[in-house]
Amino acid sequence: MAAVKTQVGIIGGGPSGLLLSQLLHLNGIDNIVLEKHSREYVLGRIRAGVLEHGFAKLMREADCGDRMDTEGEVHDGFFIAYNGKKNRVDLKGLTGGSSVVVYGQTELTRDLYDARAKLGGVVVHLAEDVQPHDITSKTPYLTYVKDGKKCRVDCDFIIGADGFHGISRKSIPADKIRLYERSYPFGWLGVLSNTKPVSPELIYASHARGFALCSLRSQFLSRYYIQVPIEQNASDWSDDAFWAELKLRLPNDVVAHLETGPSIEKSVAPLRSFVAEPMRYGNMFLAGDAAHIVPPTGARGLNSAASDIYYLYHALMDHYRNGDDAGLREYSQKALARVWKGQRFSWWMTTLLHRFPDNSVFDNRLQQTELDYLFSSEKALAALAENYVGLPF
Ligand code: FAD
Ligand code: PHB
Repeated sequence: MAAVKTQVGIIGGGPSGLLLSQLLHLNGIDNIVLEKHSREYVLGRIRAGVLEHGFAKLMREADCGDRMDTEGEVHDGFFIAYNGKKNRVDLKGLTGGSSVVVYGQTELTRDLYDARAKLGGVVVHLAEDVQPHDITSKTPYLTYVKDGKKCRVDCDFIIGADGFHGISRKSIPADKIRLYERSYPFGWLGVLSNTKPVSPELIYASHARGFALCSLRSQFLSRYYIQVPIEQNASDWSDDAFWAELKLRLPNDVVAHLETGPSIEKSVAPLRSFVAEPMRYGNMFLAGDAAHIVPPTGARGLNSAASDIYYLYHALMDHYRNGDDAGLREYSQKALARVWKGQRFSWWMTTLLHRFPDNSVFDNRLQQTELDYLFSSEKALAALAENYVGLPF
């Protein structure tokens, strides 16, 4: 069996794994990333669009911020539409100057892949059957199969950055991990289209027929979502049916400007809240979606992953540079404190804006009152804005 030695073995070449790999490499810490899929497959998944400033800062620290800073758009606010009217959330004004960056996860991941390649970083694609071993020992290792051959990576630490369906969390004995979960009875049907975005700023719409979101990737590329029952698939929706339903859920003055066109990607994402505690088992540390998932309504998922990476990267630097393990010991507790705040905010935004099939008329009136209260109270809006731009790391 071919064997190599590294300091940090990273499972998963999504944004979490790649960002950590790049930051460690820049600081002289040797690492290897094992990714199950091809680069093209990973880049084909259309996911996050909104980055908080803390994430953008970390991308710059990783020498990966140039394209994000030129092609990404800084957004100082967004809209919440209900009762046929748009209401603006002035992020910048409400937070004393903070904003978010609209830059797609596909582009961000491409930048990270390019940066890893430029520095000669090792990212093994199509690594099959990745398995962590001896996790609680001082000499953990990973095995995987590549082109039919079994390979081994010896390391000091394993990072599980392999997303919700990955192997790392599942390798932890059931009595050593606690799972908290809520699933929602709906998903988001998303469409990407080469059309001019209907609004320069995002519009989150609450409507009796269900939630809708108007987002974008650039001034030529739009991303729209509608809430659909959990049992529906993308193939159940023709493009025409999608646009017709979207129009029904948006205010008339928005619909008047909506440019429609063929979808270039269409998929359904289920909505789920999930946290695994603790985020450490022996010498394996979980990061990003491997440890926690939020419904996308608050645009927190990737941003929560970034805060894990921030804490982990500093903890590993303290270990290798100063022989100080306090950061590693405190990682799970520190990361989870922020993760749970992201969970609360995402659950709140989801509950505020979606139609729940078994809601009573009382629940619906409360939802309406919550929206009315929000737009009548500067303090309530400020709390929303503070969470949306991202709490401090
Ligand atoms: P992933 O992106 O899941 O990466 C994990 C990687 O590990 C994958 O490449 C996978 O192929 C690989 N892998 C899996 N199993 C194995 C294995 N056994 N061995 C090796 N490799 C493996 N977040 C935001 O912050 N803002 C948003 O606006 C936003 N919008 C979203 C919209 C949608 C529709 C969705 C679905 C999500 C959205 N998110 C958003 C969430 C965000 O996309 C995720 O939080 C983010 O992808 C997490 O990154 P990750 O690297 O932790 O996990
Ligand atoms: C997106 O553009 O894909 C997007 C934007 C905001 C969200 C979720 C997804 O809250």
